[in-house]
Amino acid sequence: MKKGRVFSGARPTGRQHIGNYLGAIQNYVKLQEDYECIYCAVDIHALTTLEDTHLLRENTREMVFDWLAAGLDPERSIIFVQSHVHEVTELHTLLSMVTPVNWLLRVATFKEKVKTQPHNVNYGLVGYPVLMTADISLYKADTVPVGEDQLPHLELAREIVRRFNYLFGETFPEPQAKLTNFPLVLGLDGVRKMSKSLDNHLELAATPEETTRRIMSAYTDPARQFKTDPGHPDICNIFRLHETYTPERTAEIAENCRGAAIGCVACKQMLAESINQALAPFRQRRAEIAARPGYVEEVLAGGADRARATARETMREVREKMGLP
Ligand code: TRP
Repeated sequence: MKKGRVFSGARPTGRQHIGNYLGAIQNYVKLQEDYECIYCAVDIHALTTLEDTHLLRENTREMVFDWLAAGLDPERSIIFVQSHVHEVTELHTLLSMVTPVNWLLRVATFKEKVKTQPHNVNYGLVGYPVLMTADISLYKADTVPVGEDQLPHLELAREIVRRFNYLFGETFPEPQAKLTNFPLVLGLDGVRKMSKSLDNHLELAATPEETTRRIMSAYTDPARQFKTDPGHPDICNIFRLHETYTPERTAEIAENCRGAAIGCVACKQMLAESINQALAPFRQRRAEIAARPGYVEEVLAGGADRARATARETMREVREKMGLP
């Protein structure tokens, strides 16, 4: 007996990095054991901030490719692309009728976007959380694995659902956030969150050589100029990554760093080895998938078919309740 139904979406950002893996994908894989899972590449959401869309299809495919290589299993989970199931746009429109505009204008992420893209404060951007609510509600999902940054959106989703249920009768479960309890993964600059757009990331699909090269150029403890200076593992991002990727040797590494018995170069070399070792099975599966042309497309077509079947039933019920034909 499954514990419930999970829905999660991620904006298609192309090849995934270890921050995506540790913060989300790893958790998606695990949830497949206990939940009925639906995972969606939200390409329509991406359009709220994208002006240049020529890479959107490619980025969607590459993200899903990585999901599959990381262990999302199309036999157990529904894996699909948001725009393939048109019903979501209809539910978005209908839910917008029960969503007061002032709820949306209050959302911190919206206010943030008004500042970061003042030239493109589009209507879709205001409705971003409504589209998210439609994603989740179309499949009547009750559990939504997300990072902390998405909590305000989830709160709003619950309010929209509550209002819909109040006005038209019990229809949707109130979706609960399931926080991924992984600490923020910093980028190779050691100060900002790992992100592709900042180019401070480690791609899962990179070659071992490229991974090593990027790690070797990463920042470490800034106070440590020379190998003979004592290091401060507690503030070093490389050490933080060792805690994840070299867990059995962290005490030793910390001690050697503090006592200047190991330099940053050697420390990073060791990390590169650990990470390459951890990523080897992923890279192997990615190569296997790459050897099957059309496989990703096939998975996505199957996922959309299954998602659509549920979506159609939900829409029949919603139209009926809202007095539509
Ligand atoms: N807004 C989410 C993000 O930026 C992506 C998303 C869209 C989502 N629809 C969703 C997450 C539904 C969870 C459930 O990360």
